[in-house]
Parts: sequence; C-alpha cells; structure tokens
Amino acid sequence: MGKPRILSGIQPSGSLHIGNYFGMMRPAIELQDKGEAYYFIANYHSMTSLFDADQRRKNSLEVALDFMACGLDPRKSVFWKQSDVPEVTELAWLLTTVTPMGLLERCHSYKDKKARLAGDDLDLVNHGIFAYPVLMAADILAFDSNIVPVGRDQKQHVEVTRDIAIKFNNLYGQTFVIPEPQILPDVAVVPGTDGQKMSKSYGNTIEIFGEEKALRKKVMSIVMDSRTPQEPKPDADENLAIQLMKLVAPPAVSSEFENRLRAGGLGYGDLKKALFEHYWNFFAPMRTKRAELAANLDYVHEVLRSGADRARSQARRLVDRAKQASGLS
Ligand code: TRP
Repeated sequence: MGKPRILSGIQPSGSLHIGNYFGMMRPAIELQDKGEAYYFIANYHSMTSLFDADQRRKNSLEVALDFMACGLDPRKSVFWKQSDVPEVTELAWLLTTVTPMGLLERCHSYKDKKARLAGDDLDLVNHGIFAYPVLMAADILAFDSNIVPVGRDQKQHVEVTRDIAIKFNNLYGQTFVIPEPQILPDVAVVPGTDGQKMSKSYGNTIEIFGEEKALRKKVMSIVMDSRTPQEPKPDADENLAIQLMKLVAPPAVSSEFENRLRAGGLGYGDLKKALFEHYWNFFAPMRTKRAELAANLDYVHEVLRSGADRARSQARRLVDRAKQASGLS
C-alpha cells in the first residue's frame, strides 16, 4: 500500500487557543510527514451555528493564517476552504438517501445541542445540525480518505461515515474507501485558566496569537489556591501553571519549577511569570511567520485556491464514480 491519505476538517471558530494547538493542530502538522495530508476549513459546517457572514469570512481567513503559521506546509499538504469544493454537497445528497434517520438521531453532538438549546430557542436546532454527519461523511468519502484524525467528540461521526459508506457499497457496488478514525490525544490534558478543559465555550482560553499585554493578563489570571509561597506543595504536579509549563518549556525547566513548588518557597506570581515567558517564546517563531503571512494575504489566498483545484479534481472523480454506480449517469 502507498502512503495513507489523511483528511481532517477544521472549524473556523475564531482565534485558536493552545488547547487547539496541542490537541489538534500539532498532531495534524506532524501527520503531514506520515501520508498525503488533506486539510480543509469547514466553513459549510460553520453555517449550522454561525449566522454572521462577515464573521465567517474573517474566521476562515484567521484559521488559515493560524494553521499555516503553526506549520501547515502547502508543499506537503493540500489545504483548502470547504465551500470551494462544492462536489461535497453534491455527494452529500447521494449519501443522505442511504442514511437511516435513526443513525443520525443517535449522534451525541446532535442530542447535546438539542438538549442545550431546548429551553432556549428550538428554532436554532436547524436541519443542518441534524444532517451534519452526512456532510462530514461526504467530506471524508470524497477524497478516498484512509485516516481521519479527530478529537474524541468526533469519533462517532467517523463511525457514521463508515456505516454510510458500507451501506452505499453494499447497495451500489464498491465505490468508497472505508476510513478509520485516529483519535487524537485528549485535549483535556490542556487545562484552561480555571482548571476545566480549555474551551472557547468556558471562556478559559489562552490564545496562540494575540496582543502581549492581554495574553500576559490571562496567564496571570490562572486560578491558584490561597496557600502561602513558603508552604510545601506535595500536589505540585496538579498545579495548572505547572501543567501548562510542561507543554511549552523544556522538560528540565518544568521539572525544576515543579520541584521548587513542591519544596516550598516559590510564589504563584513568580511561577506564572515564568510560564508566560516560556509560552511567549514557544510561539515566537509562529508569531513571526504569522505576521509574514498576514502581510502577504495574496499568497495565502493563492495557497487556498490551488489547494481547492487539487481537491476539486479528486472529488469530481469520486462523485462521478458514485453517480455511475448509483445509475445517475
Ligand atoms: N466536525 C469537525 C469538527 O467539528 C470538523 C469536520 C468537518 C471534519 N468535516 C470533517 C473533521 C471531516 C474530520 C473530517 O471538529
């Protein structure tokens, strides 16, 4: 077998935070060397829950800049904006006709959204939210993807994709490659400033890029307890600043801070200042790269355009195969 095809979609949900970086972006960037990487900005998907056109346009560009700044390499990966490959919506119809309602009704993301919005505004539970896994199946199947790296929350959607592909293949003959999910390390290991999992919806994020003063303030606001600096802290490994430092500082440095905290004598303010410095340095090369890209948006648009061309010719072939198999052509 040749190199596996690796495909994943990234929601354009605004500035990315370090939880996104360690949970999703870095593994995706590392996978560029393990196969043929196909990554896209899932702007069709964003339509199920974001209803502001300017915001969508802005977020999509931001996420492209963030991803390229963090190491997405257009010479290694095909990178595009989902809506520039409209073949996926064409394929979604073919797939939706072989998707049992019950399969979608069982999806956690749909059930959770519905439960969350129930007391609120049920009109927000649109058909797109319900049908979302079918569009995601089209994204995956349109490119003969072998491996789909996703967070734990998306695993069920890849399983739905497999079910749909198998159903179609059984009905109409071998058409789709059956993909495998590859579950990324749990992003829960990246705690937010309040100790819960870092997530935009909890308002506890530390962004990858942004204004230094505001980010310093966020780091300094990480919640600590009220023990005095002198007190020894046998639970130093559970300290939020230590956990974050392990991600951004060399191991020798973070274990030295952990030991000093455990022994007593290191104040939380000093610890957080050190954390900020390491975090700021860790992302410094990416910050430089991002500034270069932001000053050269024509290049970024060109990367997305040529990515879309490549992706589109792939998807066209696949959709033609599916149309042939199902008697549409
Ligand atoms: N649903 C994914 C998320 O919310 C994004 C996504 C859309 C995706 N299409 C995909 C991921 C296809 C993997 C493969 O994170």
